[in-house]
Amino acid sequence: MITIALSKGRIFEETTPLLAAAGIRALEDPESSRKLILPTNRDDVRLIIVRATDVPTYVQYGAADLGIAGKDVLDEHGCEGLYQPLDLQIAKCKMMVAVRDDFDYEASIRQGARLKVVTKYVKAAREHFAAKGMHVDLIKLYGSMELGPLVGLADAIVDLVSTGATLRANNLKAVEEIGHISSRLIVNQASLKLNRPLLQPILDAFSGAVK
Ligand code: PRP
Repeated sequence: MITIALSKGRIFEETTPLLAAAGIRALEDPESSRKLILPTNRDDVRLIIVRATDVPTYVQYGAADLGIAGKDVLDEHGCEGLYQPLDLQIAKCKMMVAVRDDFDYEASIRQGARLKVVTKYVKAAREHFAAKGMHVDLIKLYGSMELGPLVGLADAIVDLVSTGATLRANNLKAVEEIGHISSRLIVNQASLKLNRPLLQPILDAFSGAVK
């Protein structure tokens, strides 16, 4: 039995055509089902629905053989025990620094101000500001980072930006790009050795569908 760990929402939606290329179709929709283990049309493949940030953990410990996770999540989690063969080119967005429309980011950097930054991506943010030689105070949040600068919790946010609609709706502007994000296929290294005859055709189908 092959177990594939996925998160609901955009990653699940954009993974569906890749699964189809491998002849795999979920028998229930995770948006309407409360089930955490979803059967598929194949007796030897099941999907588990977990939080995006938990996908690498399930694969690392071998509770899932395969998983699909954003580069943002993988960079924060680290890649111990994970083989990362493929950029699936799905769920694309950018990790950005953003501030209030009326905040002069460049001027505060020139003045050497110590900025307060809220983010879910503490590791990526720390590395970004360290590389720029900026001293910042990082405050960890678990969501709705956009609120931070609006209520005086922070001067800036580090968050993912896709359409930019959330920034615009909250009178924020992107001021720096940290990097491009997309989702990656991750594989448990031991599982790949033990189950290669079952896993390799799935990896090949994903790879073909991406190209
Ligand atoms: C992400 C991100 C932004 C938003 C950006 O949040 O954190 O808030 O999407 O998208 P946009 O540029 O198209 O407006 P998501 O909805 O994934 O929820 P999260 O806060 O739990 O990460």
